[in-house]
Amino acid sequence: MATGVPKRSRSSKTGRNGSRLGGEGSSIILSYPGKRPEQEILECPPSNTHCVWQGREANSLNRLYAGDNLGIASALLQDASIAGKVGLVYIDPPFATQTTFHARDLSHAFEDHLSGIDFIEFLRARLILLRELLAPDGSIYLHLDAKMVFHLKIIMDELFGPGQFRNCITRKKCNPKNYTRKQYGNVADYILFYTKSDSYVWNRSLEPWTKERAKEYQYVEAKTGRRFMKVPVHAPGTRNGETGQPWRGVSPPPGKHWQFPPAVLDEMDDRGEIYWSPNGNPRRKVYLDENPGIGVQDIWMDFRDAHNQNIEITGYPTEKNQELLRRIVKASSMPGDLVLDCFSGSGTTLVAAEVTERRWIGIDNGIEAISTTLQRFVEGSRPMGDFVSLRAKQKLLPGVPSPPQQLELPLEVDPPGSGSAVGGTTTLGAILNFRLFADEEMYAPVSKVVKEWSGREFGECPFDRVAQRK
Ligand SMILES: C[S@@+](CC[C@H](N)C(=O)[O-])C[C@H]1O[C@@H](n2cnc3c(N)ncnc32)[C@H](O)[C@@H]1O
Repeated sequence: MATGVPKRSRSSKTGRNGSRLGGEGSSIILSYPGKRPEQEILECPPSNTHCVWQGREANSLNRLYAGDNLGIASALLQDASIAGKVGLVYIDPPFATQTTFHARDLSHAFEDHLSGIDFIEFLRARLILLRELLAPDGSIYLHLDAKMVFHLKIIMDELFGPGQFRNCITRKKCNPKNYTRKQYGNVADYILFYTKSDSYVWNRSLEPWTKERAKEYQYVEAKTGRRFMKVPVHAPGTRNGETGQPWRGVSPPPGKHWQFPPAVLDEMDDRGEIYWSPNGNPRRKVYLDENPGIGVQDIWMDFRDAHNQNIEITGYPTEKNQELLRRIVKASSMPGDLVLDCFSGSGTTLVAAEVTERRWIGIDNGIEAISTTLQRFVEGSRPMGDFVSLRAKQKLLPGVPSPPQQLELPLEVDPPGSGSAVGGTTTLGAILNFRLFADEEMYAPVSKVVKEWSGREFGECPFDRVAQRK
């Protein structure tokens, strides 16, 4: 594998050692054997999917697909209601860990055995289709860890353009580890944030003021009791106009000008927003209660995954923090927008989209992921300790009695918003406003899961009919 600089821009210069230096227009590409042309990937055959279950009040866009995301994404590209209309993509694919993942109850969840160029090409193919699905003002977040994020940064630059890179967010994923290896403990993973264009949906997220930060507002207004800080009312640079002239007999400091015209300064002063120092210098008061918080930065410390016995989880391995997903969904989409996660696992993104009133599509090719998502939609997540004690014991000790059957897939249950507890800290009704699809390979196992839960007959599998005709 090698990185190359194939195109040289006109502005390329010759460096001191005679090498050519790329200018702004140069693009770095990752070359490796087996890298397929984009067109070939865009032409990959769409999967044939079939609806297994439909909620009574299904929103036509809320969909959970069971099957391989390449063929399903390709099928979605042929759906005029979806292609080019996805507002936000978040994906948390396997990380090339060379691991087989099991759920907390020990069921097999998924394999993560691709590595090197196989992993890169697997992901690149999906990213190409996802790019086409995105709306012109859409955003994409790719969650990875240190092992592959640098390779995929180059791929993302190739596919979206280096100018569409917005952030590489560093997330603290867990508490400090007591490593005995000769290296630093690893508590970070990374989220690459790109947009499809320069004009994209952005709702600035704010960190609320902490007591510590509020200390900057050290003054208290005697009349009102409001906390404030003092900031200069002048700015660098001289001006010949009115902002360069004395105001209330005070000239701006040398080399500076007033930030506001005298009429505006008068109004501010009349409202009591100017602080006059004992030697007669004006300063502007900035009030704590008028400042909603500080913009979120690109290091996120507050969204660790299952880190203690108090948090609520589904028991699915690699399940991401629900609050992390809500921050992303709120920042990069609007209510009503379509959110897509094609490695949806336990459905974390889908729940975040639902509770923030977005529409959503999830895709996963694991039966454990699909059944966990369905369970979560109906029951919510649970305190972490419960999984360890009950479900795992049943697997390990077949004599342990089964828990009462709580799962009734959702034919006649509460409509959304009716108030039963789902999704840990959030209160909302069971999520039933969607359709469940499966590709040919997953139709039978998914139907079985639904049938077990709902106690309903689903009749003849349509794929069996297709197979019999052949
Ligand atoms: C890291 S997990 C995602 C976890 C998820 N973010 C959550 O919070 O639960 C990756 C998921 O990708 C799924 N997956 C892997 N390859 C896939 C493929 N080709 N098509 C669809 N899903 C796939 C796995 O079954 C697994 O559930």
